[in-house]
Amino acid sequence: MNAPSAFHGWSAQQPVGRIAYVNGRYMPHVQAGVHIEDRGLQFADAIYEVWGVVSGDFFDEEEHLDRLERSLRELGMAMPMGRDALKMVLRETARRNRVRDGMIYLQITRGSARRDHPVPKSSPRPTLIVTARSIDITDLERRRRDGVAVVTQPDERWARCDIKSTALLPNILAKTAARGAGAYEAWLVDDEGYITEGSSTSAWIVDEAGRVITRDLSNVILPGVTRRVIMQAAASAQLPIVERKFTPAEAMRAREAFLTAATAGVTPIVAIDGKKVADGKPGPLTRRIQELYGLTARKAAEGKSAAAE
Ligand SMILES: Cc1ncc(COP(=O)(O)O)c(C=O)c1O
Repeated sequence: MNAPSAFHGWSAQQPVGRIAYVNGRYMPHVQAGVHIEDRGLQFADAIYEVWGVVSGDFFDEEEHLDRLERSLRELGMAMPMGRDALKMVLRETARRNRVRDGMIYLQITRGSARRDHPVPKSSPRPTLIVTARSIDITDLERRRRDGVAVVTQPDERWARCDIKSTALLPNILAKTAARGAGAYEAWLVDDEGYITEGSSTSAWIVDEAGRVITRDLSNVILPGVTRRVIMQAAASAQLPIVERKFTPAEAMRAREAFLTAATAGVTPIVAIDGKKVADGKPGPLTRRIQELYGLTARKAAEGKSAAAE
């Protein structure tokens, strides 16, 4: 007899052989689970964080932990354990999954309680989930070398996009539409006609005067960690960065465009809505920023190993 998943025509693809951390235990994915009344499952009452891992190093480790703590604070949730203990769990999950190049995914939900909308007065124990997986570095490197296409989509998200919440339905629908259109990412456009950010990445252009532009921080975008690290690196290299809104029309006239995220690094954008950006090739400032980000990451990794000796 066919397995039930195949019988229903669903994909039988399962994450095989991987180990997840759930509430104090490391276990195979097939056995890992949460309560059906977990508020993360019932209401997306949960936040998450993602670290990129390159050659075994966690990129921007502290900055992601800072943002994690902020997301929790904004939702009145507590850290399920101290920061150092959490770092050990992240490392151990990476180790058990043999991740050298990949990503670590962490999710904290408000825990399980009888399904009822208001946040329970007596806080349930938060649910902590950590998973890790390797990334195909060849694909990643090809995208970073050759660039990707994006398409614009309406930004249909809620008004607190500064919180890294797991409520990602509008993001996944936009990304799916982009993939359906043969593009890598969706650039989201707000009601006033300005680009906010990508569905899972920060959005950047280089204007006609050679200034690097990205949307200013507010409730309408996630404060990207990669964005922040790049802003600092660019400032020390005297590269002009301006935080302001820009429209799809301006992006299409731009000299260069790129996106950033922990798992994408700095990826050039060579087409927007089917129209080439400049000559359709990654531009020199994007290359320079890739270089600066790589240098910053290498320095941070060297600093860590020196501290460990
Ligand atoms: C909506 C959104 N914007 C931007 C980013 C990039 O953030 P970071 O550089 O911290 O990965 C992400 C990453 O997940 C995201 O989901």
